[in-house]
Amino acid sequence: MVSLQLDGRTVVVTGAGQGQGAAEARMLVEAGARVIATDLAADMPAGLAVVSSTSPGALVYRQLNVSDASGWSDLAQWIRSQGWQVDGLVNNAGITQRSRLLDASVADLQNVYEVNVAGVLLGIQTLAPLMASSSAIVNVGSVAGLTAHYPEAYTASKWALRGLSQVAAMELGPRGIRVNSVHPGFIETPMTASAKAEFRQATMAETPLGRTGSVEEVAGVVLFLLSPLSSFVTGAEIPVDGGQSGHGGAKSVSDAMR
Ligand SMILES: NC(=O)c1ccc[n+]([C@@H]2O[C@H](COP(=O)([O-])OP(=O)(O)OC[C@H]3O[C@@H](n4cnc5c(N)ncnc54)[C@H](O)[C@@H]3O)[C@@H](O)[C@H]2O)c1
Repeated sequence: MVSLQLDGRTVVVTGAGQGQGAAEARMLVEAGARVIATDLAADMPAGLAVVSSTSPGALVYRQLNVSDASGWSDLAQWIRSQGWQVDGLVNNAGITQRSRLLDASVADLQNVYEVNVAGVLLGIQTLAPLMASSSAIVNVGSVAGLTAHYPEAYTASKWALRGLSQVAAMELGPRGIRVNSVHPGFIETPMTASAKAEFRQATMAETPLGRTGSVEEVAGVVLFLLSPLSSFVTGAEIPVDGGQSGHGGAKSVSDAMR
């Protein structure tokens, strides 16, 4: 049967306390999944508590710093203790760092890599053993990982994540575990709320759809990649960016020729 429904499937979402992760958790619950939502906070963030109270039992919250290997082990142990397997993992947690090439320090690079790259590696290493055939992993990259986005450490981390994702797709494919990436453009979240107005305007000028994206527009693609509708899709990289990365820099030329 062709379906976007995820009834009976358990999906772990990292960085689910706000922004895209919270939207993914909400949409996955609507699709019938049991969601294990994780984030840094000790207590369930308010946006998730609403989902938890309207859909009792469909969403559980666990504290997890994705850079912490022992935190991942604790999560895996807890999932096993519930008698559950893991059918989906959304590696969504990420941090930005806006220093430019000549200012970025090694510490900047390390801090961003710890979350955006090592956090994803640890998640895959820890939860893949709990996954049966026909499970799926979705890694949240960025248009930064498809372009020369100016914040050096963040951009390098998202390019590194692409390599990690492709190796994971190759290595886990024989076990029936699919690994795909989404690459959001400018999405309205707390992360981008702190971006300068100039950045917002310049990005929209490079975006054929001429607007920013919503968290639901990313969550919908994540849901598709976790669902049986994408059962032959692995190693794919899907930009969710209003066309920003597709024109390869040609938009300003096209606009100038009107
Ligand atoms: N918003 C955008 O325009 C945009 C664009 C491209 C890519 N992304 C990527 O999308 C993902 C989600 O971004 P967002 O905009 O929703 O960000 P956000 O800052 O609004 O939310 C990120 C969440 O991740 C959590 N987090 C941060 N560090 C963590 C850690 N070490 N362990 C666990 N959780 C941690 C935060 O607490 C927060 O709840 C990130 O990977 C980001 O790089 C965002």
